[in-house]
Parts: sequence; structure tokens; C-alpha cells
Amino acid sequence: MFAHYLQGRMGPKTPTFSRQTIFTVVVFFTLLIWSWQIFGSSTPRTRESSKPSAPIVDPLPPYVKPRYWSASHLGGLEGIKAFPKPDGLNKIVAIIFYGRPATVSILDCYLKRNLIKNGGMLDEVVWIVRTNDTSHKAYLDVLLAEEDAYTKWNVTFGENEDYRSAYDRVQNGTMYIKIDDDIVFMEDTVIPSIVDSKWKNPDYFIISANIMNQPSLSWVHWRLGAVRPYLPEIEPAPPSDVVPEELRVEWKASALPDWTSSDPEWIMSLEYISPYKKHRWLPVKYDTSNRSIDDTPIIFTDFNAFSEGLWKWTIAAQQHYSFFENLEKNELWRYKFSEWNYNYTRMGIQFVAMMGEDINMGKPIVERDDEYYFSEVMTQKTSRHGVVDGRSLVAHYSFKPQRDGIASTDILDRYRTFADENICIQPVRPIY
Ligand SMILES: *[C@@H]1O[C@H](CO)[C@@H](O)[C@H](O)[C@H]1NC(C)=O
Ligand SMILES: *[C@@H]1O[C@H](CO)[C@@H](O)[C@H](O)[C@H]1NC(C)=O
Ligand SMILES: *[C@@H]1O[C@H](CO)[C@@H](O)[C@H](O)[C@H]1NC(C)=O
Ligand SMILES: *[C@@H]1O[C@H](CO)[C@@H](O)[C@H](O)[C@H]1NC(C)=O
Ligand SMILES: *[C@@H]1O[C@H](CO)[C@@H](O)[C@H](O)[C@H]1NC(C)=O
Repeated sequence: MFAHYLQGRMGPKTPTFSRQTIFTVVVFFTLLIWSWQIFGSSTPRTRESSKPSAPIVDPLPPYVKPRYWSASHLGGLEGIKAFPKPDGLNKIVAIIFYGRPATVSILDCYLKRNLIKNGGMLDEVVWIVRTNDTSHKAYLDVLLAEEDAYTKWNVTFGENEDYRSAYDRVQNGTMYIKIDDDIVFMEDTVIPSIVDSKWKNPDYFIISANIMNQPSLSWVHWRLGAVRPYLPEIEPAPPSDVVPEELRVEWKASALPDWTSSDPEWIMSLEYISPYKKHRWLPVKYDTSNRSIDDTPIIFTDFNAFSEGLWKWTIAAQQHYSFFENLEKNELWRYKFSEWNYNYTRMGIQFVAMMGEDINMGKPIVERDDEYYFSEVMTQKTSRHGVVDGRSLVAHYSFKPQRDGIASTDILDRYRTFADENICIQPVRPIY
């Protein structure tokens, strides 16, 4: 039930040691070591380790907010507290190509929640740096210093080598979950679900999560009725000089007024530019506006990896606001299906599971475009399909062509508020 999202509000867990007695500290660490011995610990871990992972932690540490196993008649994820790692699977490692602290600050909370010691399935999170920005690199170093299960792989990207050397250290027997650094929402079921799909279907080469804001799936979600009519707020006048930059933005769509326009001729353009920062989109109701979903950007998308859903931020914005509405109403089932088989055609790889031996099998990697390589080249070469596991959802913030437009809205603030309230063990680490 949605109430679960509201229950687990715990205070920030940043300990302040200044007032604590040494006795308290000793007891705390003794308990911590004791609980690690009882429940198993994922740290310290070395990459080369071939030891099987510790079992799922149960009960969860008290600082972890309640899990939410969202309804699924599509494969039995409902009602279970934990989803055990398949017997025989050595390790599960997330790989993140890092570049953007604004979204990573949110993703970090979801990754920590999915670590074994916090009741998840990830043994390790590997970060591969893809930025030259010194302050962005420093931000990652702080995350790495705080979390033992986070590792950095030093990868030097040579000229004309976009990503290939990044896979040099991939090991057979490990399952890799490649996650884009701008995934800003993950259902609790998503990693268990794609691990389960990949493990039970070794004949599939690559399994993707059900991704919100990914061109061909945008079309699927629209046709399933998950995308709602939303349009940018055109009245009242911009409050740009009264909205403080640090204002905490409420994530719930129910707090938004209905969309209206005093100009009955007003028409949405796909090239629309937000008139001020932290601009909102509003729900369109037929009886107050005479407009319907036919007047909104989503209708321009298509079942195609290069459709307008890739190029137009307005299509992404409508989907993000629809997502907040569906999330609040506990209606994420609207997005779901059991499986969508891409066969050998192009499938997005923003959140995918692959086995190490399947990545290693294709080496040396000769293609420059990893999405093309993994979803089209390797699937054909091995006669094994690329498939979307539609049972669990993640939200993808933006594609490069959508970036500036999406950044002119308050969408990222909404994801941050949601994560802070429902996911993060510690408050989202601010970007300095
Ligand atoms: C970082 O700098 C190197 C060397 O100047 C350059 O080749 C590379 O493209 C840059 N990477 C990014 C992500 O900007
Ligand atoms: C990675 O590179 C950094 C800086 O160049 C260096 O300090 C560190 O030791 C390297 N780590 C590994 C594991 O090679
Ligand atoms: C909707 O359109 C009808 C017919 O053109 C008109 O009578 C009505 O006032 C309109 N309602 C709104 C809210 O614009
Ligand atoms: C999948 O690809 C194979 C080989 O190209 C083709 O024969 C088959 O018809 C395709 N199936 C679908 C459902 O597109
Ligand atoms: C890993 O698996 C690939 C594909 O099966 C194989 O070619 C390679 O030799 C294996 N590597 C090791 C170190 O076993």
C-alpha cells in the first residue's frame, strides 16, 4: 500500500559523536560487529573474491526505510520481504559511468538501499569516471570514501575509445547491472526482478528494466495509459525572483492546480521553452480546459529508439509529471507488463543486466556505440535476444538532447524530495 511510502520516515542518521560517551561508541560498534557476524557482511570485499555473497539481511537494519514490493500479478514479486540471490550466482555488481553529481546525489541513495548489508542484492558498486570536471570528481571521491561497497575502476579512455576499455575488468560468473548515472528512481523490486529474469533465462543476452523516459518504452507507456495529460504552467507570471534556489519542492502531483489558459488558442509546441527556472507542469482536466491528451507532447512519440521521445524534453517532462501522479496514487502497475522482446533490434541500455562471460565473450569490443553493440551486434552474434522485464520500473531523468529543457523545470527537485523522504538513509548529499 502507498502508506508504506509514508511510514518509514526516520530522522537523519548522521551521527554526531561530539556528545557521545566512549561507552556508547563501544557498545554501538560491538553490536554492529555482532550483527555483521550474524547476518553476514558484504565488506570488505575484493574484486577478485570468488566467495559467494552473504545472504539477504533479514531483519533489515533499523535505519533502512520500509521496503515497498509493488503489486505485480506479473511474476510473483508481491508480498515477499526479500528476494534471495539465485544459488550459484557468484556476485552482483552495479556499474555506473559517472559524470553528473546532480543526479548521482539521488541515485546514491537507491544504490545504498540495494547493497547487501541494507537488505538488497548488490555486492559492490563500481564507478567509472567519465568527466574531467575537478569538482565533480571530488564529489565522487567523497561518496567512495564513505562507502566500502563502492569501488572506482581507473579507466583511461584513449582517443576513439568511448567506453570499451571500461569493460576490461569484467569477470566471468558475476552478473553486472549497468546503470546510467541519471537514474533518479528505482522500485525496490527492480534489481531482484531483472536478476531473476536474467538468471532464469540464460538464453536472453541482455535484460533491461522497465524504463520510464526511454523512447520506445515511452510509446508503450502512453498506450498503456500510464502517461497523463500535462502541460507547462502558463499563468500566473513567473515567480523567478521569489523562489529561493534551495526551496524544498513537494513531489506530489496532487498539490498542483489544474492547467488553464486564458487564451483558448494557446497551442503546445514541442520546442516550448520554460519562461523561468524551476518551472512546473500542470495536470490537464478536460472540463476546465477543453484539452485532452491529444493536445499534449506524448502523442508525437513512436515505437522507435530514435523517435521524438529521445529528442524532445517536453515529452520527457510530461512523462515525469505523470510518473509523480502514478507514484502518489500507488498506480505504478499502469506501466507494467511481463516481458517485451526486442529480438535483435535496438533496445535502450540505461538499466540492464548482463553476465560477465557474455561481455567477455565479445572481446575485443570493436563498436563505439555500446547500445548498438550490446542490443544489436551481440544479440545477433549469439542468437540470444534483448528483452525488457516489464515487472519493475525505473525513472530515467534525461537524454542529452533533453537536458537543458528538463533542467529548467523542478523535476529533479521532486525526485530529490521523494528520495529524501522515502529512500535515503542519510539526507541527499548536497553538491558543492
Ligand atoms: C577529458 O579530457 C581528455 C583529455 O583532454 C579528453 O580526451 C576527453 O574527451 C575528456 N573527457 C570528457 C568526458 O570530457
Ligand atoms: C587510480 O588512480 C588514482 C589517481 O590517478 C590513484 O591514486 C589510484 O591509486 C589508482 N587506483 C588504482 C586501483 O589503480
Ligand atoms: C469548451 O468548449 C465549449 C464549446 O466550444 C465552450 O462552450 C466552453 O465554454 C469551453 N469550456 C472551457 C472551460 O473553455
Ligand atoms: C527476430 O529476428 C529473426 C532474425 O532476424 C527473424 O527471423 C524473426 O522474424 C524476428 N522476430 C520478430 C518477432 O521480429
Ligand atoms: C570467460 O568467459 C568467456 C566466454 O565464455 C571465455 O571466452 C573466457 O575464456 C572466460 N575467461 C576466463 C578467465 O575463464
